Amino acid sequence: MDALELLLNRRSVSRLTTPAPQGEALQHILAAGMRAPDHGALRPWHFTVMQDEGIERFSRLLHQAAIDSNLGAEAEEKAKNAPYRAPLIIAVMAKVAENSKIPEWEQVVSAGCAVHAMQMAAVAQGFGGIWRTGSWTDDHTVRAGLGCHEHDKIVGFLYLGTPALKAPNKVTAPDMTNFVSYL
Ligand SMILES: Cc1cc2nc3c(=O)[nH]c(=O)nc-3n(C[C@H](O)[C@H](O)[C@H](O)COP(=O)(O)O)c2cc1C
Repeated sequence: MDALELLLNRRSVSRLTTPAPQGEALQHILAAGMRAPDHGALRPWHFTVMQDEGIERFSRLLHQAAIDSNLGAEAEEKAKNAPYRAPLIIAVMAKVAENSKIPEWEQVVSAGCAVHAMQMAAVAQGFGGIWRTGSWTDDHTVRAGLGCHEHDKIVGFLYLGTPALKAPNKVTAPDMTNFVSYL
């Protein structure tokens, strides 16, 4: 797929099914994340890949988080089911280096770029995905379960798989008038 065509027409896909990217396709996705722009070559990120039993473990973790937060039966059920919306999830954490001359915000943005790069690498290989966050990113139980240290930030859960429905609506060219100026 042409790179410009991908960037101009990409869509997120929330309904995802098997097959998930595997083998070389998954390695390309992770390698694209590793090539995110990165001031100071800190590689300020960590990717946690979840599929099969990993998805089940993540489901139990979200369920426990909902219980710990007293969210009630309905929310607990929703939390338990959330990871099953895709056959592959990559949790992306910004591993923020303290006392670095690179400011924290730049490190977090780098980790966010890694999410986008991985999503685009998946789409370029014929898969679909969606970047999700939700309240889980700041949740104590979830953070502990994913091994976050104090200054780490979960920047997203990248849900990946094969689009379950027909291709989403085409993108209409955005009106840039109010978003762009020229100095
Ligand atoms: C940091 C971040 C967090 C997001 N979190 C969610 C989320 O939790 N749930 C959701 O449905 N979409 C979330 N989105 C939006 C989707 O990833 C997607 O961009 C949106 O549905 C628009 O679709 P499009 O990418 O096809 O334009 C998030 C996007 C970003 C950048």
